[in-house]
Amino acid sequence: MTMTAIGLLIAAVAAVGNLGSVSGFHLPHRISKYKTSSSHLAMATTTESSSNNDNILPNADHILFDVPVSNNGARCRIILYKKGISNEQVTILSPAHLGGLKSEEYKKLSPLGLMPCLTLPKHENPSQQYHGGLSSLVESDTIARYLLSKYATIGPSFQPENPKSNLIARMHDMYLTTIQGCLYKPASRLPLGDYPDRKSAIEAYRKNWNIIESFLTDDVAEDATYLCGKEVSLADATLFPSAVFATYMLPKFDSDLDHPEPPLPPKLTRWFDHLRINDSTFTKVYDEIMDTMVNSWENTNHRWDSIRGAGVRDTAPSTIFDLILNGSIPATIVRENEHILAFKDINPLAPAHILLIPKDRNGLTSLRQSTEEHIHILGQLLVMAGEIAKDTSLGFGDGARIVINDGKDGGQEVQHLHVHVLGGRQMESTFG
Ligand SMILES: *[C@@H]1O[C@H](CO)[C@@H](O)[C@H](O)[C@H]1NC(C)=O
Ligand SMILES: *[C@@H]1O[C@H](CO)[C@@H](O)[C@H](O)[C@H]1NC(C)=O
Repeated sequence: MTMTAIGLLIAAVAAVGNLGSVSGFHLPHRISKYKTSSSHLAMATTTESSSNNDNILPNADHILFDVPVSNNGARCRIILYKKGISNEQVTILSPAHLGGLKSEEYKKLSPLGLMPCLTLPKHENPSQQYHGGLSSLVESDTIARYLLSKYATIGPSFQPENPKSNLIARMHDMYLTTIQGCLYKPASRLPLGDYPDRKSAIEAYRKNWNIIESFLTDDVAEDATYLCGKEVSLADATLFPSAVFATYMLPKFDSDLDHPEPPLPPKLTRWFDHLRINDSTFTKVYDEIMDTMVNSWENTNHRWDSIRGAGVRDTAPSTIFDLILNGSIPATIVRENEHILAFKDINPLAPAHILLIPKDRNGLTSLRQSTEEHIHILGQLLVMAGEIAKDTSLGFGDGARIVINDGKDGGQEVQHLHVHVLGGRQMESTFG
């Protein structure tokens, strides 16, 4: 049987997405490659200590394993730079120095292969070599707080009386960075936790920035320079690196909109611009992160080219379904939710013949274009098809035939994925 959808095809209107670009951005220096140590990081010198990693690690009180682009580790670097902690006290090295995050040598320090990781100094007394059995710390918040207490007498405390600092740092770690992957994870690593798809995760990500905005007073970056007032705090160190990332990535997802949303809400924008431009520590960390993101991730590895919304866009011509979706062509809508529209086929091939389409085509010109990115919408379409197929008020009886025509050979006539649900009579046993 040949499935005829809607015979009418309209002239193509191509919506060409503008691939995101960074403008007005000046790079003062270059970093070689992500995952290798760089000129920003103090270079190690070999010492002749006894066992394991000691052989290849420089002689400093602590080694902080981190790389310049690292969003979480950057808060520790802000603390080190701002306090003026020396290389002899804390030397920063890339995990590449030990063979990378997955190497056996690195896992001796960071069992889960996490970065950043801070080694702890040995006690003089060999019988209690390490602190309570710990030779290193992981998790940037843990490392940051350790550094703040260990070097409490040097430079700013980062711990103002204002409890807002801890609140913002905690909100950041619990709710913001946990979904930040929506901005850079490839389709094969979606969905993200509670969020079925990239778009809803990005929406939640933006909402969390707005919640942090709501904690701020109006004088941020004016009379008060930092998030909690005149004193730099852990909140600034924690939030700033994520703000670098957000201001760089979010506009990519909006670059085909006429009126893109600013990446950060107004008070946070003012705070971010102020630190980025007027505070040399924050300027340095901004440059470290952006250098790797722009030169290595974007320009060399083309990392965003596989991310739907940032690099991958639906630029196929619009179809008659767009006219139905925006009401220019009437249709008998039988069911609808946020993501799906179901309506009667105007050339029905059976007593009951319903079409279901995703409202946002999002690259699904045909089923053959689907990727992991589309798992949620494809599942939703089939669930709704099943609901429709048992709706006797639409003329369905005991069962239905549910069909997707795909491409030319499949008889697909509209280049916007659609599911046919046919019923109300006995279908023939053969296809085609
Ligand atoms: C940087 O500081 C100068 C001088 O205090 C000030 O006029 C300017 O507005 C600041 N820039 C930002 C972006 O906050
Ligand atoms: C409806 O969508 C079509 C195709 O995208 C577009 O050309 C048309 O201007 C839209 N009409 C309205 C009323 O929005």
